[in-house]
Amino acid sequence: MGAPDYSIPGSVAPRPAFEAVSDAAPLSVAGAARTVAAVLAESQVEAVLDELERDLVGLAPVKQRIRDIAALLVIDKLRMNLGLQAETPSLHMSFTGNPGTGKTTVALRMAEILHRLGYVRKGHLVAVTRDDLVGQYIGHTAPKTREVLKKAMGGVLFIDEAYYLYRPENERDYGQEAIEILLQVMENQRDDLVVILAGYKDRMDTFFKSNPGLSSRIAHHLDFPDYTVDELQQIARRMLAQRHYHFGAGADAVFRDYLERRIRQPHFANARSVRNALDRARLRQASRLFAERERELGQDDLTTLLPVDLLASRVFADTQP
Ligand SMILES: Nc1ncnc2c1ncn2[C@@H]1O[C@H](COP(=O)(O)OP(=O)(O)O)[C@@H](O)[C@H]1O
Ligand SMILES: [Mg+2]
Repeated sequence: MGAPDYSIPGSVAPRPAFEAVSDAAPLSVAGAARTVAAVLAESQVEAVLDELERDLVGLAPVKQRIRDIAALLVIDKLRMNLGLQAETPSLHMSFTGNPGTGKTTVALRMAEILHRLGYVRKGHLVAVTRDDLVGQYIGHTAPKTREVLKKAMGGVLFIDEAYYLYRPENERDYGQEAIEILLQVMENQRDDLVVILAGYKDRMDTFFKSNPGLSSRIAHHLDFPDYTVDELQQIARRMLAQRHYHFGAGADAVFRDYLERRIRQPHFANARSVRNALDRARLRQASRLFAERERELGQDDLTTLLPVDLLASRVFADTQP
């Protein structure tokens, strides 16, 4: 099981790992737009959809769902403009999938889409886990949860491994208190806050079965599939290109071999494992170059990862293909 990404050990006040604030102006509440094209032009939402398509490898079903949700929101906008619809639709979502499948990355884009279409005022994303919401002692949970909600207002609250909020084995667990506050806010302030619950699919299913109140407030369930080896390899190439690195002769094939072995080992975390493997390869490349004190290092030396930078991985020592 993957460790949660966002908990900050030892911190008292909830500190979200990152907040992204968009600078695009939100649409006015009752706009004049009467066509899809007008809403798209006003909101610039297609730019985000195109970015999603371009920047993220694979994820075809997720991308399609996001396009569908965007279409629904655009049409809702037109209905509001004609007075056919007064109420904000419920937009709370669940993102299920294994670690490193792109849930947080897509949540950031979703926050941007919701903002551009005027469904949230600010469009920032506040990512938390149980520890940010639930206190250790009686009376600590409500203020903690409310503080996080306050920070997230006008944006998206992303609760990673949300099922840890519910611990049926402990009847006085404070998580229940956080769930109740969340439920109220999800219902009463849904015009200003969208909640995304994320985590492993099977655990989330069990969690929703035990918490039907929460489940009934989730409008969209998105499932993130594991990446194929081909997709992981494409992701690797993109990550390298972004940082001005590339695989040298033979390294592409070695990395594929690496992936085929790594994928079968414990704690494999999809694109996150790719990122970590590349980080380690960069370290090895640096040590290799560092040893050559007098050699002049050109662009090619400094940007190329060689097979030897990958082959030193434990993954090649531990297992047979
Ligand atoms: N489809 C993809 N294409 C390119 N990079 C990806 C893709 N999915 C995930 N990543 C990268 O992998 C890392 C882990 O993704 P993340 O969104 O944190 O996964 P999760 O939240 O599901 O654990 C991030 O650095 C992200 O940019
Ligand atoms: Mg994540």
